[in-house]
Amino acid sequence: MTDTFKLNNGYEIPCVGFGTWQTPDGDTAIKAVSEAIRAGYCHIDTAACYGNETSVGKGIKVSCVERSRLFVTGKVWNSDRGYGKTMVAFEKTMADLELDYLDLYLIHWPASSTQFEDWEQINLETWRAMTELYKAGRIKAIGVCNFLPHHLKALMETEVQPMVNQIEFHPGQMQEETVSYCKDHNIIVEAWSPLGTGRMLSNEMLKSIAAKYGKSAAQLCIRWCLQNGILPLPKSVTPSRIIENADVFDFEITNEDMEAINGMEYCGGSGLHPDKVDF
Ligand code: A2P
Repeated sequence: MTDTFKLNNGYEIPCVGFGTWQTPDGDTAIKAVSEAIRAGYCHIDTAACYGNETSVGKGIKVSCVERSRLFVTGKVWNSDRGYGKTMVAFEKTMADLELDYLDLYLIHWPASSTQFEDWEQINLETWRAMTELYKAGRIKAIGVCNFLPHHLKALMETEVQPMVNQIEFHPGQMQEETVSYCKDHNIIVEAWSPLGTGRMLSNEMLKSIAAKYGKSAAQLCIRWCLQNGILPLPKSVTPSRIIENADVFDFEITNEDMEAINGMEYCGGSGLHPDKVDF
């Protein structure tokens, strides 16, 4: 689990992260995070809006792993957009996680034109705060989530360009246009819900391809992300699955099987569209 991708500022990011969206706060989150670290994950992805940052921080603390060996990602929530609010939100996240720096801080959702006339300006103001925190060394890398190319465009013209875009990505939901824009602009794409929030795991085609490699459908989805150059963030609170999802480095999906999975029909995914969400 020590393989890394290199971000456009040279900083290394472990190529599989541990997702914590929908992980209940309290003991469940503490145990899931400490179990993940014990299983070898060194990249933990969380967010203020998940409501579990305090427990994620405790999970990190009880693991007694040197801070420098971990990569921790946080996200600024939609109600904290803009320069001043982002600065305050960042300090709260640091206090909740009990950390003194973040490896990666992301804007959780773009302000969009369906919600705001000055959506682009709002995104730029949030980005200004992120850039300042980055330049001050409080964050090692900065980026966004759920940004489509038209949201990214203005940020590409600023002093520091996004290093990461975390989007929904799994078989049947590949967001080709956004992925290709990010690849062209040296932005690493991370996959939230790489298992389709668990929904893809009962897909018969994925199950039969996975069986050929002696792997589970979950392992196939995670490996498929990696072979597409995408950084997966599988979530689980189940110790056996946490271990299983980290065991993806001893097989290689053939080109033929990659093409079959890449060619799966659009499955609709979560239905959350960055220009249509109203939270
Ligand atoms: P649980 O957390 O109860 O173990 P995603 O990462 O796409 O959001 O998917 C997360 C969902 O998939 C959760 O419901 C999680 O359940 C489930 N899950 C994660 N890993 C596995 C696995 N290896 N096998 C089956 N289900 C899994």
